[in-house]
Amino acid sequence: ENEQIIGSKSFTAVAVNCASKAGEWIKSRIGQFAEPDLKHSMHDLVTEVDKGSERLIRNLIGTHFPHHSFLGEEGVEPGPEASARALEKVSDAEYLWIVDPIDGTTNYVHDFPFYSVSIALARKGQVIVGVVYDPSRDELFVAERGKGAYVHGKRMSISGEKALRQSLVATGFPADHTAALPANLKQIQAVAPQVRNVRVAGSAALHMAYVAAGRLSGFWEIGLNAWDLAAGSLLVEEAGGRVTDQSGEPYHLGVRNVAASNGWIHGELLEALKKA
Ligand code: IPD
Ligand code: CA
Ligand code: CA
Ligand code: CA
Repeated sequence: ENEQIIGSKSFTAVAVNCASKAGEWIKSRIGQFAEPDLKHSMHDLVTEVDKGSERLIRNLIGTHFPHHSFLGEEGVEPGPEASARALEKVSDAEYLWIVDPIDGTTNYVHDFPFYSVSIALARKGQVIVGVVYDPSRDELFVAERGKGAYVHGKRMSISGEKALRQSLVATGFPADHTAALPANLKQIQAVAPQVRNVRVAGSAALHMAYVAAGRLSGFWEIGLNAWDLAAGSLLVEEAGGRVTDQSGEPYHLGVRNVAASNGWIHGELLEALKKA
């Protein structure tokens, strides 16, 4: 048991170190990178800094834990089929690091200060460490399974709003404009009249961290990947909230259509999404 505690502490220390180093580096590169490349549409950008950040994190994790598996966004072909295959390949891993080197690339490209680095460690498919770092505000969100969620060392807990009508919630516009975006717009139409307001700030991982911190009461999105959600899911759960897919099944690494909340409004949020 002792070994496990030491082990999990050092896992968290490495995750924090990677997220801070990568976050500082990407912030220092703002405005100094080549034109972004397009992935599969004009709505889906990638820069050399996304790739550099992933390389930095992968190398650092590799020096500490050479036998652990690694799943990072920029190592996977775009599209849901490729990401399902990539996840499937590593789903048996004893230890799997799940990394989004910049979550919110579009914001990053436009110097809109809401993007993050997201790093999770899963053991046999269950997230045990989750770290999200926001370099613009220098906010570091950290959770360890069973030990709570913290922002800069201060314990976080979810918001107290008991109903949608008192809630500020967030969503994300999917990059896939063929099916996912129209579905998301319908969901906004269903949810917006029932809440105080809706935010679409452009980083799923930070939206999740904000639910954990009690700054948002809920968040939902369609078509996300493990690297967008893994770290944030543990932040929300350890802060006392709830994370499911949009039919109410508990979160697992394969969940793409997510609903996260303070728990109180979860049923109402799922109901509203179902009506969309
Ligand atoms: C995106 C962001 C965005 C969300 C998109 C994601 P990326 O991640 O999280 O908020 O709406 O669905 O793909 O590509 O910037 O890492
Ligand atoms: Ca991306
Ligand atoms: Ca992302
Ligand atoms: Ca990304």
